[in-house]
Amino acid sequence: MKVLFACSEAYPLAKTGGLGDVGGALPRALARLGVQVRLLLPAYKTTLEHARPQGLKLLREFTISGAPVKLWQSRLTGSRVPVWLVDIPEFSDRDGGLYGDSTGADWPDNPYRFYMFCKVAEAIALNNIGLQWQPDVVHANDWQTGLLPALLAQHTAAPASVFTIHNLAYRGIFDYQAFSSLNLPEHWWHHERLEFWGNFSYLKAGLVYADAITTVSPSYAEEIKTEAFGCGLEGLLTYRAHCLSGIVNGIDTDTWNPGSDRHLEVNYNRRTLKRKAFNKAALQRELGLPEHDSLALVGFIGRLVEQKGIALLLEALPSLLQQQRCQLVVIGSGQAEFETALIALQARFPQQVSVTIGYDEGLSHRIEAGSDIFLMPSLFEPCGLNQMYSQRYGTIPVAHFVGGLRDTIVNFSDSSGAIDATHTSALDNVDETGFLFSEASGTALASALNHALTCFDNPLLWRKLQDNAMSQDFAWGKSARTYLELYRQTLSATTRSSDVTDQAAVL
Ligand code: ADP
Ligand code: GLC
Repeated sequence: MKVLFACSEAYPLAKTGGLGDVGGALPRALARLGVQVRLLLPAYKTTLEHARPQGLKLLREFTISGAPVKLWQSRLTGSRVPVWLVDIPEFSDRDGGLYGDSTGADWPDNPYRFYMFCKVAEAIALNNIGLQWQPDVVHANDWQTGLLPALLAQHTAAPASVFTIHNLAYRGIFDYQAFSSLNLPEHWWHHERLEFWGNFSYLKAGLVYADAITTVSPSYAEEIKTEAFGCGLEGLLTYRAHCLSGIVNGIDTDTWNPGSDRHLEVNYNRRTLKRKAFNKAALQRELGLPEHDSLALVGFIGRLVEQKGIALLLEALPSLLQQQRCQLVVIGSGQAEFETALIALQARFPQQVSVTIGYDEGLSHRIEAGSDIFLMPSLFEPCGLNQMYSQRYGTIPVAHFVGGLRDTIVNFSDSSGAIDATHTSALDNVDETGFLFSEASGTALASALNHALTCFDNPLLWRKLQDNAMSQDFAWGKSARTYLELYRQTLSATTRSSDVTDQAAVL
């Protein structure tokens, strides 16, 4: 099986969030199953700098849509997976973020940048640039690669396409001017094709044209067919439900391993869990909080955007902080109003709250290890990775019952009264790993967190929850096998009718 995996991020070469974690780990897991996988990434300036020490080889120089392109080959760090980097000046000759400038504003030429990325992927998929390698399946991810299944559907001899939705909220919406400047086929400007309420959407292109659609958890696959979670695409997703499935993300168990994590003060595992306390003390010192062993330390890591439920956090935490029930450490960046409100919370409770605005991979590992409780009050969460990292680090998640959070956390409801346990045998039937709340409100979050804090005060029960959480198997193996099975099925089911005949059926 040969797979071209096209993604706009792959850790450690390029990452803004969970897409980067998946882009770095899934191709590796597929390669372990014997898949001949090639990872296609934009050659961002920072990516080239990162890849250079491992060796960069110029594979090809060619022209796409009149513009010169260079294709570099490197390797995914710590693996044998070849990475192909698409070099156009709009990627490689620009400082700032992957998708926008340092103020967070999107690059105005994003439609062009990712159109070019998809055109190069199309040329590779059709074996048109002399690489002597043609994939059986092209796996595209999120809006940045949404045009790719549409481009492939125009060719009768194209590989099968799989499109994965990591986050439906980012739909890659652009106007007619962008559409016409890219010379896209005029019949794509139709509400049953790419057109979307007077604009057009790259993500929609993927949803309309991919041979198979997946998203990153079974629960989110159900949720996005409803108005509440479908971002206006629920009708299309319901129409395509027969080829939509949910495959839960795994985690990179080498990068996220408390037993060998080089960012930690002290390494530990299930058997040496007592050593986790050194990481808590070290984190408190690092962030200038008083060292308190018995006071619960609550952690949050993430993009400070509405999706992540920051408003719920800001509503729920003050009263618990006021009652001296916990400390809170936060790292993230995003919307100015959330950054400001979190800084104000820190100013109000300087002995209990530490807020770091920014992005720091090392600190995020130390928060996973040093916290007792991990907060994920997301309003929606396609999968979420931090709740899995936290369980692996013996840090108990408190999360909203949505998407991947409900698929990866087992809610402790205390139906057997285990909270009062005074000896271990009373805990034999406890196999839960965290705390989930159903209603998207600050009150519901406060109540779940309060429950967790009460359980934290019973060391026997807490130790059992930690043990359960740390025993979960979140490695990629199982999900990678499910993707491989899907590739096989899609390949055997795909007899490509060209978009020309397809068009006649629609208009
Ligand atoms: P999303 O992709 O929606 O942002 P995920 O939970 O899937 O959410 O993944 C987020 C990833 O980004 C995790 O690896 C998390 O540790 C990382 N991350 C998010 N914000 C920060 C930050 N400020 N500093 C370090 N890592 C961060
Ligand atoms: C998105 C989602 C997140 C998911 C990640 C990787 O960014 O918001 O829930 O874990 O993609 O699939």
